[in-house]
Amino acid sequence: MELLKLENLSVHFQVRKGLFKTTPSKAVDGVSLSMNKGETLAVVGESGSGKTTLGRASLRLLKLTSGRIFFDGVDVTDLKDKELQRLRKRAQAIFQDPYSSINPFMSIREVLMEPLAIHKAAEGKEAEERVYKALADVKLTPEEEFAAKYPHMLSGGQRQRVGIARALILNPDYVVADEPVSMVDASSRAEILHLMRSLQQKYGITFLYITHDIASAKFFSDRIAVMYLGRIVELGSPNDVVKDPLHPYTQALIQAVPEPDPANRLHERKVIPGEPPTPTNIPKGCRFHPRCPSFMKSKCDVIDPSLAEVKPGHYVSCHLY
Ligand SMILES: Nc1ncnc2c1ncn2[C@@H]1O[C@H](COP(=O)(O)OP(=O)(O)OP(=O)(O)O)[C@@H](O)[C@H]1O
Ligand SMILES: [Mg+2]
Repeated sequence: MELLKLENLSVHFQVRKGLFKTTPSKAVDGVSLSMNKGETLAVVGESGSGKTTLGRASLRLLKLTSGRIFFDGVDVTDLKDKELQRLRKRAQAIFQDPYSSINPFMSIREVLMEPLAIHKAAEGKEAEERVYKALADVKLTPEEEFAAKYPHMLSGGQRQRVGIARALILNPDYVVADEPVSMVDASSRAEILHLMRSLQQKYGITFLYITHDIASAKFFSDRIAVMYLGRIVELGSPNDVVKDPLHPYTQALIQAVPEPDPANRLHERKVIPGEPPTPTNIPKGCRFHPRCPSFMKSKCDVIDPSLAEVKPGHYVSCHLY
């Protein structure tokens, strides 16, 4: 059963170029994707490939340039006000930065009460019980003790657990987790990923997991979509995409080496050779051709390949196949 369908979605930003000119930055540029109920789909790609934009657009948090979004069979592309609010209740986000995404002046109890109040989901004793249950779910116990704390009293990992509890307290059907562990201490990452995976399974949540780390995508997801310059270039099961990657970009991502300069090694990012993508200047033909080791003149720099199913369930957009 399908929960979410994105149809030819594009999000183009207008960015300043010089004093008077603007130029479109095609952050997401024609993405079609569908997710089944209870499925975890990982979106992987380098910085700037459009992962966050895609995730936010799928939640109707960004203005679409074109395309349509269907949620549980309903076209939600143009929903407004009350109806949009109803969608918000069912579709939640877990953000990257547990330090800036939680109001430092609110107690954990207040942080978790807030969505219940906004959506009039529960109040009084019932709300209190939902808060304790959410804290128990993310293993912040004793619950009463954690509810009374303030964010500065918690570690980064504990704050991110609060972020997860806040996203799940409304029993959403769909959750976008945008690099949820990249700013968390390396020692707590695996534990938090395991926790998210088990809650996702327990509650049958449809999960979009955004990461630049293809190894964690393999562990955490049922399918992997590889993004490059606003497009999906490969899509398939973790076995297909990680064990038998077909797109030269996916192969490069897997072979990527850690950033050589430790000062730039933000969240252990890896680098692949060649100029990183910039969506204000998308090359003609295949978007990856200027960096591609298998570049074929007069094909790759002319024709833009479309995503095609080359094996059952394994899609790739590349002239080699
Ligand atoms: N509000 C905005 N205005 C203009 N350009 C934007 C805006 N948001 C994103 N972009 C541009 O769109 C492109 C894709 O950005 P996005 O944040 O979606 O990438 P990402 O894959 O999430 O990268 P990262 O791994 O660094 O988080 C980037 O070139 C970015 O500069
Ligand atoms: Mg991002």
